[in-house]
Amino acid sequence: MSTRILQISDLHIGRSVTEENNFKIIVNHIIRKGQGEWQSNKPVIMITGDIVNDGDVGQYETAKGYLDQLHAKGFNLRLIPGNHDYGKKGNLALEEGFIRFKGHFSQYHDNGMDYPYPDNIDGHCLIGLNSMQSEYGLDGILADGELGEDQIEKTADLINEYRETSNGKVIVYLHHHPFLYPDDLPLRRVGEAVGHWLKDGKEFMSTIKDLNIDVLLFGHEHRHLKFTNTILNDRYNIPYIISSGKSSEHSREFPVLQNGSADQPECEYKAFADLLEQYEYDNEERERVQRELDRIPKELYGRMIEINDAGDINITNEVFV
Ligand SMILES: [Fe+2]
Repeated sequence: MSTRILQISDLHIGRSVTEENNFKIIVNHIIRKGQGEWQSNKPVIMITGDIVNDGDVGQYETAKGYLDQLHAKGFNLRLIPGNHDYGKKGNLALEEGFIRFKGHFSQYHDNGMDYPYPDNIDGHCLIGLNSMQSEYGLDGILADGELGEDQIEKTADLINEYRETSNGKVIVYLHHHPFLYPDDLPLRRVGEAVGHWLKDGKEFMSTIKDLNIDVLLFGHEHRHLKFTNTILNDRYNIPYIISSGKSSEHSREFPVLQNGSADQPECEYKAFADLLEQYEYDNEERERVQRELDRIPKELYGRMIEINDAGDINITNEVFV
């Protein structure tokens, strides 16, 4: 029987009624399939952070109401926090935000919520990280993250220990994207460095590139990108690198080119968003890009990671309807 993991991300419950309504669609979709196609082989439901929008108690209560439904229907849940789970609009990380996260959600985990959080699922190794680990206190401003030396070392130790006795797959998941996207232009790169990226992403990636990880998953950036056979997969020695967009918002996915950039007209747009405000932009070009984008439908996406008995990995989009 194959192993199934369904990744969803960046739900931002409490931001507006749209996120909650779309999460309702996601939960109902999962429950429906759990009673049908997935009945004898339910996926582990993995949520890669930003489950709520401001770390508020009410938002946690709302999210828990939906997650309880999944748990009651026999789904295993694996959750990691993002910057929005710690405080207001993801820009002010308070320790009490994480205490709330644990208070509401740790019951879903078999062994609490200390990170790195390791699992053995059908002989495969799954490790969840907390990229807000070192973000309490004075440094807890803006939306960047940090794993901390200790967590990076522990993760490497866990993977090495697992490799000594097992030959299953190793899957690692965190909230923040641990490298800059190849198609980020200079303006955007500056913004990342000011307060959005994983501060010790470089250290993390240089550590894990020697560990033969099979799948790396994250969210935070709100871009659905599947990196396979790109220069990033070679550089980090990871065959599948999955960036999840915001699952609770209808959004688009664009194919990724071999150089790691998305084949996406919108990219250019995003990178120059600030400049567009200041300078006259070619309206004809803007309309052409928009027309091109409009042809591609927007969906509510999750990622289904399946590992079959032969050890082959297959990653597909789960479109929630
Ligand atoms: Fe985030």
